[in-house]
Amino acid sequence: MKQVSQLENEVQDYYGKVLQGSDDLKTTACCTDISYSTQIKQALKNIHDEVLSKYYGCGLTIPTQVQGLRVLDLGSGAGRDCYLLSQLVSEDGYVLGIDMTDEQIEVANRHIEWHRSKFAYGNSNVNFVKGNIQNLKEVEIQSEDFDVIVSNCVVNLAANKQAVLEEAFRVLKEGGEFYFSDVYCDRRIPRHLINDKELYGECLSGALYWNDFLNLARKVGFSDPRIVESRRLTIENDSVLEKTAGYKFYSVTHRLFKLPELEPASEDYGQAVKYLGGVQEEPACFKLDNHHLFEIGRNVPVCGNTWRMLANTRYRKFFEFYGNFERHFGLFPVCGTEIPYQDNTEDVPQTQQTNEPSCC
Ligand SMILES: C[S@@+](CC[C@H](N)C(=O)[O-])C[C@H]1O[C@@H](n2cnc3c(N)ncnc32)[C@H](O)[C@@H]1O
Repeated sequence: MKQVSQLENEVQDYYGKVLQGSDDLKTTACCTDISYSTQIKQALKNIHDEVLSKYYGCGLTIPTQVQGLRVLDLGSGAGRDCYLLSQLVSEDGYVLGIDMTDEQIEVANRHIEWHRSKFAYGNSNVNFVKGNIQNLKEVEIQSEDFDVIVSNCVVNLAANKQAVLEEAFRVLKEGGEFYFSDVYCDRRIPRHLINDKELYGECLSGALYWNDFLNLARKVGFSDPRIVESRRLTIENDSVLEKTAGYKFYSVTHRLFKLPELEPASEDYGQAVKYLGGVQEEPACFKLDNHHLFEIGRNVPVCGNTWRMLANTRYRKFFEFYGNFERHFGLFPVCGTEIPYQDNTEDVPQTQQTNEPSCC
């Protein structure tokens, strides 16, 4: 088994020296295959070409309603998501990017002034710091300091994933959320593949088995992880395909709320909520996750956890709430235990697909 320092040196080497830009990637693991909203497309036009060319994310890690918030990006790379968020949080908000690779931090830092001027801000609201996301105390990040944490295709590269989740939980304010995209596998990955420098650097063999991730998230305090988007990764490179035969990889965006009162399961208290509108990006329908789409004006029955994710977070003012926690009616319909990700690839028989919502 490799030492942590060796693993980290290899990751730094891959993102600092081997890759010069997104075109050098051998798989689509570090590529984002989704259509962006008009607002995001517009914001992307204001980002420097060099920053865009060194983007290696696997999802859209930009949650809604971030204006005025303090946002931390774990593994910010050359800074694309930070500069996107810089526009969305507005000049009143703040964005901090942390990355351990010198070359990535250098590119991100070099363009701070260019973006400040492009966004017509008096002062830049973005900062980049070199550091390891497994230990945010080392870069002096205080507990409960951030409203939102994002991360794009990074946690899989960390040797100690539990430490990353623990640190995210620590530095989030109560009611805040860790909204991030990463790569997961349908099974545990054996040591010889983890030790493969190329597979690891390409964000494949460091991926967690999806159920290990869910258990780890719950263990550190994120009691009810929610999936926003998921897609099966396709691998076109022959040698990578051969080495990973039999393993299915997925890019998944999760949102993990720091709400200590969340329960381990979706419990039913007979409650309902109504979306009043007002979230700028979602005027007609508010999407909490891939099971919860709230149409404006419609009363929707919800479990206690969903209620709390709306009532005890920045989304409270956009909803009306009905009921309370006094009377318990048992569980919401049972959640499935199959892999919960979407799979739109052609080689998978329909019977193996689990696109249907399984619970509340
Ligand atoms: C796949 S790239 C993604 C970069 C960026 N999020 C983006 O979307 O372009 C992974 C990044 O994570 C950083 N990284 C990996 N492990 C890290 C760790 N333990 N601490 C800090 N940064 C890390 C690497 O240096 C690299 O810049």
